Amino acid sequence: MPSLQGPRIVAGPPGPRVTKLLRDSGLEPSSYSSPIIDEARGIYVKDPDENVFTDLISGRCVVNTGYNHPRIVEAVKRQAERSIHWQTEQAYTLICRLEKMLDSGPKQVYWSQAGSLANEHAIKAVRRATGKPLILSFTGSYHGSSMGAISLSGYDPSMKRHYGPLIPGIVHVPYASCYRCPLNLEHPSCAHACLAYIEEVVFKSYVPADEVAAVFVEPIQGDAGWHIPPPGWHQGLKKLCERFGILHVADEVQTGFGRTGRWLGMDHWGVKPDVVLLGKAMGSGVPISACVLGRDLLESTDSEPIPIHAQSFSATPLGTAAAHATIDVIGDERLCENSERMGAYMKNRLTDLMDEHSCIGDVRGLGLLIGVEIVKDRAKKIPDPTSADAICAEAFRRGVYTLNMGSYGGRALRVAPPLVITEKQIDTSIEILGEAIGKIERD
Ligand SMILES: Cc1ncc(COP(=O)(O)O)c(C=O)c1O
Repeated sequence: MPSLQGPRIVAGPPGPRVTKLLRDSGLEPSSYSSPIIDEARGIYVKDPDENVFTDLISGRCVVNTGYNHPRIVEAVKRQAERSIHWQTEQAYTLICRLEKMLDSGPKQVYWSQAGSLANEHAIKAVRRATGKPLILSFTGSYHGSSMGAISLSGYDPSMKRHYGPLIPGIVHVPYASCYRCPLNLEHPSCAHACLAYIEEVVFKSYVPADEVAAVFVEPIQGDAGWHIPPPGWHQGLKKLCERFGILHVADEVQTGFGRTGRWLGMDHWGVKPDVVLLGKAMGSGVPISACVLGRDLLESTDSEPIPIHAQSFSATPLGTAAAHATIDVIGDERLCENSERMGAYMKNRLTDLMDEHSCIGDVRGLGLLIGVEIVKDRAKKIPDPTSADAICAEAFRRGVYTLNMGSYGGRALRVAPPLVITEKQIDTSIEILGEAIGKIERD
């Protein structure tokens, strides 16, 4: 496959073909802000007008191995020739590889094709395994867009408005989003007050702890603006779960498969969850997700012969083939190490931009999962969603694609390129991003 070089803007964006495509679809061409892909390779995507963009968000943290890695493409082609439907040997061998990745005992896996569905499986599994109705989730969390997943989420009221009633029994508690602490405290003097809040306030005033089946937690809150809990917080949460007999569910949909410089986000804290949810990068773009739980968790308690979650499309042959190839590529090409090394380099370069651009309030991240907080006032941390949107639009016009997201009114640019990115490619991206930020600050 020929390589694709970029970024390179030759027409627009949008150019004539995209303009026509959007008009014919009843859309306004000026809304073009996310590349329509004609072809993609590595960190680059080419649109129908031959514009080549650097994708700084890896197609929403999906293509950790880079777009169309030849080994993934080859594995999918090979599988497509043999069978494209129903279970294959590879689904079974994949479970063994996930057990190894999780460094744990025997697992059972409920397969599906989206992170949202992995969360749905988990809601059902923890309730059934424990016989308890309640679930704790966090303010700022994002777990997907299906009914159970939006019920779990605490990212933004707009994702729930007019969809209610949502599923009952889910209680939200404050996450350790220290940049804008929901309790208005500071680390380390807070001594993890948000964890103490669960025990001292939630469990002593409105939630019977003995009715809580599980806590769902993202290792790093993603859509909330990439908040990394302080040292000891995840371990503290796990201990709290153990004290109260609550299952610990880690939503690794976004943080898994090398994104943060480790195979899994929780590896940074050495925490072993009871249930792990995987998706996004698992198949490098071929849909596959998994709710992975201890074999003892349901089989020992559940005597009913019905499958807990049957689907027409479960561990699809193309998905499992892509997942095997993804694990091979991440291991063989040492992409966790590259994520850690290039992530540190990129974070430094972004932090340097703070000297020139006062609208950058904070740069935070682990590996190649980095958030750049855009503010009106750095000291007061006043959110500036308008500038964040304008920066993304300006960067896009210059051939760099990023998004901004955040909870509590804040907005962080998402910087999460494919893990194959090189230092030179980072330099080019930062230069363009810096120019875009400068232009918006001047305007
Ligand atoms: C942590 C987390 N969980 C679940 C999801 C939902 O995944 P999907 O969009 O594949 O349904 C996302 C998507 O962004 C996510 O970031």
